[in-house]
Order: sequence, then C-alpha cells, then structure tokens
Amino acid sequence: MTRKKLIAGNWKMNKTSADAVSLARDLVAAVGTAPEVEVVICPPFTALEAVAKVVDGSLIKLGAQNMHYEASGAFTGEVSAPMLRAIFTTHVILGHSERRTLFGETDELVNKKVLSALKNQLKPILCVGESLAEREAGSTLKVVQTQTERGLEGVSKEQASTLVVAYEPVWAIGTGKVATTEQAQEVHAFIRGLLTKHYGEAISQKVRILYGGSMKPANAPELLAQKDIDGGLIGGASLEARSFVELIKAAAAIA
Ligand code: 13P
Repeated sequence: MTRKKLIAGNWKMNKTSADAVSLARDLVAAVGTAPEVEVVICPPFTALEAVAKVVDGSLIKLGAQNMHYEASGAFTGEVSAPMLRAIFTTHVILGHSERRTLFGETDELVNKKVLSALKNQLKPILCVGESLAEREAGSTLKVVQTQTERGLEGVSKEQASTLVVAYEPVWAIGTGKVATTEQAQEVHAFIRGLLTKHYGEAISQKVRILYGGSMKPANAPELLAQKDIDGGLIGGASLEARSFVELIKAAAAIA
C-alpha cells in the first residue's frame, strides 16, 4: 500500500504572529495547491488563529505543538483540544522530546493527551525517540517500544488509523547530526511492527511514521525513499519557506 507522504513543520518557540503569517503566506503561494504531499505547519499558539486564516482554502493543514488533556478548567497557562479545534487546528504534536526532557512530560501524561486529542477529532503526531546515552547503551528499540506502547494505551483500532507517529532520535534534534538511513529505517520498521501487533496489518499500513532530527533538503531524499519513512517532522528547516518547500518537493518526487 502506498501512504501519502506527510511533511510537518514544527516551528517550536519561533515567530511572532506577524512573522508566522508571512511564512504561511509564502508556503500557501508555493505549495498550497499541491496535492501529492500532505503538509502540516505547527506555529506557536499565539499565531495559530492568524495562520488558520492564511491557510484557509489551501491544502496546508494546521497543527499545534502541545495541549492539555482536559477540555477546560483551572489549568493556568494551558490550552485544550476543543480550543484548538475551534480555530481549525487538525493536528497536534504530542510527547515531543523537548516536552519530555524540559517540561517533565511522562508517558502517562502523553497518553492522556493522545486520548483527549483523538476524542476531539484532532490527529496526534506522537513523538518517540531515544537519547544518545540510550542509543549507546543499546536500548533504542526498548525505549521506542515503551514510549509508543504507553503513549497509545487505550487507543482503539478505529482511532489508530488516524495516528501519526514521529521517530525523533533526541541526539539528532537541532544538532545537524542526522540518523543514517539504516538507523532510521530500522526503528521505523520496528514501530510499524508494534502497530501491527496491536492494531493489525491493515491499520499499521495506513499509519504515517515520520522521521525528525536535522532533516534538510540535502538528506531528505535518501531518508524519504526508505520503505517505512512516510515523511518528516521538521524543526530548523521549516522556519524558512525555501528549505521547507524544497523538503516538500523532495517528498513529492518520491510520492
Ligand atoms: P530539527 O529539524 O531542528 O533537528 O528539529 C527536529 C524536531 O524536533 C522536530 O520536531
């Protein structure tokens, strides 16, 4: 089965609302009507609504970078799934390694967020990945298995088909050190195997598994050509229209 490639930009804590609108406009002009690749951009919360207006009517979809699992309440500083849905957000990055390491997010918390996102018809982009120490200790697959299985606890078969998983080796994020195609493909195939075990072959073949970690136009074609690499979750190279568009074109060339 052929899965449509998905290129997602994680803008992290970058860009004011005005800067975000300007980048989104450039992206709409360049790739807003290209159907070969699914494109999702994830600006900071403060820019979501303004960017939603810019991408409206184009094929570019909107994602958030995090959310709380409750729908509303006394959770100062947090944002919920219904709030994101109300401004036309369709995707949400959950369990990013920066959330896990800098903000103490556990698998249990990430799982609550995944379930809440799915309940509210938001598509989770569940991030998993090992640290350098874990890779060197030979525990990459164990770490990825735990994060994937715990993160997806209680997710039904029906819900699973809308999931996106992102494999982001922590040592490759923002470091310029990209995983080799063999390293990445091995983990991607392993994740698909886990999805097959829990949800069956038909569903696991539908789920997009993205690679993230220093993906750039120069290394993307080789990574994206791997059997189980269905796209990218891009940090640094998504902050500029030119490099992000090149990545989308690299994915389209393979699709
Ligand atoms: P970089 O592409 O900057 O390495 O970031 C990857 C990432 O963390 C995307 O979520």
